[in-house]
Amino acid sequence: MADPLKSICDDPLERKWVWISLVLAVVMGVTLGYYAVASNLHPPSNVETIDSSRLHLSEEFAEDNLGVKTNPDGSVRVTLVAARYGFYPPRIEVPVDTKVTFRLASADVLHGVHVPNTNMTTMVVPGYISEVTTTFPRTGEYSLLCNEYCGLGHDSMWSRLVVVPKTAGGQS
Ligand code: CUA
Repeated sequence: MADPLKSICDDPLERKWVWISLVLAVVMGVTLGYYAVASNLHPPSNVETIDSSRLHLSEEFAEDNLGVKTNPDGSVRVTLVAARYGFYPPRIEVPVDTKVTFRLASADVLHGVHVPNTNMTTMVVPGYISEVTTTFPRTGEYSLLCNEYCGLGHDSMWSRLVVVPKTAGGQS
């Protein structure tokens, strides 16, 4: 088979390396695509804005409305505020094997949220509402960590996520 690169490059060694880099790029692309599908990883898709300095005056992110709520269809909604240096409320319980939608807003600077060993991770950009929907297949205690440097207390910015058996609750 004639080398299609022959028309743009005469040196066989150079063509060989062009092929190697092309193959590597394809392998990396396929790997990324595979894990995006297999692990259900995707960029945040909703763009919703909010005034970070007036969260307490908003309906959704007012202190009394934070935490875990169960929707009529059985799915769960978790509303959290990220602020230096913690997530509020600091401990949440969600049921296992249930669709959980996190809605987060920052009260100050850029934060991130990450639950190790799950696909729950997103940035929390001031001025925007971050939304992630996921399902936790295993019960247990997880840490909800901040993974964007947000100041001197960044290291200690974490809270507790407890995944409980379905019958035991998840309601607030
Ligand atoms: Cu919040 Cu780092």
